[in-house]
Amino acid sequence: MHSDSVTPGVAIEEATQYVKSRWDNTPRVGIILGSGLGNLATAVEQPCAVPYEETPHFPQSTAIGHHGQFVCGELGGVKVIVMQGRFHLYEGYSTKNVTLPVHVMCRLGIDTLIVSNAAGGLNPGFSAGDVMVINGHLNRMHRRPEYGIPNIAPTMWAQSTLRPYHPELQSMARHIARENDFEAPLGVYAGHLGPNYETRAEYRYLRKLGADAVGMSTIPEVLVAESYDVRTLAFSAITNVCRPDALTETTAEEVIEIAAIAGQKIKKILLGILNFYTQSGRELSK
Ligand code: HPA
Repeated sequence: MHSDSVTPGVAIEEATQYVKSRWDNTPRVGIILGSGLGNLATAVEQPCAVPYEETPHFPQSTAIGHHGQFVCGELGGVKVIVMQGRFHLYEGYSTKNVTLPVHVMCRLGIDTLIVSNAAGGLNPGFSAGDVMVINGHLNRMHRRPEYGIPNIAPTMWAQSTLRPYHPELQSMARHIARENDFEAPLGVYAGHLGPNYETRAEYRYLRKLGADAVGMSTIPEVLVAESYDVRTLAFSAITNVCRPDALTETTAEEVIEIAAIAGQKIKKILLGILNFYTQSGRELSK
């Protein structure tokens, strides 16, 4: 039975207790690995895998290039909970289903969420394999995380979305990229429902709206994290460049292949951030 058929608060509580029963630790950082980026989970030390199919109320992950499990353990000396695979609205799941794992990670005690996704690049300065640091989004999924969840309903329902992407973490990510000899430009992410990639007209339109990249995830998850006051950093692995007047075909296989290349860069940034968490005595703002 997945979470649509029970009260959301009960689903969140039971799923959280289950993960706790398998790995009794307080993670500091939650990490969501998107399409083709799942390999990053192999770097987790003392890993404890908790498959989604065993977790109460969780749906199954069906998307290409996605595993379906939490991997809990340590990365760069920090206790982490990694989502190796996520749920998407285009798989037919509701926002409640898609965001359930984020509620679980927040309830387990993370103070930071790092999110990655594969996205099409709309900014003409982008190339396939680039990593964009998200500094704003256009919610074109026309869905908000459902309210009605005990304890957090008021914040989520009329929630301010002034700062879902933490400015200091953005700067840190870009700095780490430069130290590793690549640029990680800032940009605005447009979230579409999918599952199809966009038409020429849609790419043109999204660019005019101010989007630098387009994908099919991330926004519901980030909104939920913000409602818990969890600071968030999000990356897009640019897997294809969308030049409306010279558009070439995009396939899911190509997206996964290129995401793995960008994933090497994301891994460097991630480890740099975790290193800051272990080495620096300085606390980041909320
Ligand atoms: N559009 C939407 N989602 C995507 C794309 C795209 O072009 N590439 C990778 N994910």
